[in-house]
Amino acid sequence: MESPFKAEVLKGKVALLTGGASGIGYEISVQLGKHGASIAVMGRRKNVIDSAVESLHSLGIPAIGLVGDVRKRDDAVRVLESTVKHFGRLDILVNAAAGNFLVPSEDLSPNGFRTVLDIDAVGTFTMCHEALKYLKKGAPGKDSSVGGTIMNISATLHYTATWYQIHVSAAKAAVDSITRSLALEWGTDYDIRVNGIAPGPIEDTAGFSKLLPQEILSKFKVNAPTTKVGQKWDIAMAAVYLASTAGKYINGTTLVVDGADWLTKPSHLPKERVKQLSRAVERRSRNEPVGIPKSKL
Ligand code: COA
Repeated sequence: MESPFKAEVLKGKVALLTGGASGIGYEISVQLGKHGASIAVMGRRKNVIDSAVESLHSLGIPAIGLVGDVRKRDDAVRVLESTVKHFGRLDILVNAAAGNFLVPSEDLSPNGFRTVLDIDAVGTFTMCHEALKYLKKGAPGKDSSVGGTIMNISATLHYTATWYQIHVSAAKAAVDSITRSLALEWGTDYDIRVNGIAPGPIEDTAGFSKLLPQEILSKFKVNAPTTKVGQKWDIAMAAVYLASTAGKYINGTTLVVDGADWLTKPSHLPKERVKQLSRAVERRSRNEPVGIPKSKL
């Protein structure tokens, strides 16, 4: 789909994306790049990173790939240093690296719980912490009036409760909390905006296929009149919006991009029945006979 934004809205900016070589992270890399940013992608698998960089180059986007694990502080430091050494500055950090698997709580070991917290929550904090000196106003390559921006990819799982996702729900709740705390502290002190994006069900992603078995997946698409399935593009456009000056007054929020999926629940009564009932209840509360219009009394 064509972008509604001008191609140069992120011209001259440099973005580093963890998990930026695959899935939603890769689409964000593409769209930030198509809107003028230079891209550094970080991930654990060299072959995945190499192929992402090749694809970005084929689109004419300046890009480098850096192998690293967000759970390792030394990797975070090295990848950030390499990004700034290569491109001269850093403006945008996207924390898209995440771990996930379906598991009933009783079968999840504390180490399994900790592993996902380590990737999603501690990894996000580590990347933000090590990126601060490059993102704040007056940092290398930047002038003294404009700070950078951080976007943390979250979820809606923890707004209610989600079956077999206790570890990811806890991790994303922590991510949202990190978003708010850093927006408060770093927005005030360093002019850095920190926001989140919470995707709904997005087709053609690892999350979609990994968390929904094939038999559910086919029903999900057909039987979901209100719960539309989103595209990676929808999330990437939210990222372009938040990273651009259009988002300059947005700080500390997590933008839900899910077509109202998390709010969706079946209606317990047909709409026509509700209309009849609500009138009847009103008349009853005014002691008017139910069923006889007021004008006929
Ligand atoms: N069910 C229950 N426990 C699981 C599990 C599963 N499907 N997968 C991993 N675990 C547990 C392991 O048993 C281990 O705990 P233990 O030491 O008590 O046995 C712990 O989690 C760590 O597993 P390990 O395989 O060593 O971790 P890893 O660092 O190699 O992998 C994961 C991290 C587990 C998150 C892995 O799924 C991953 O990296 N996935 C790629 C990213 C991804 O999933 N993205 C999805 C986006 S929605």
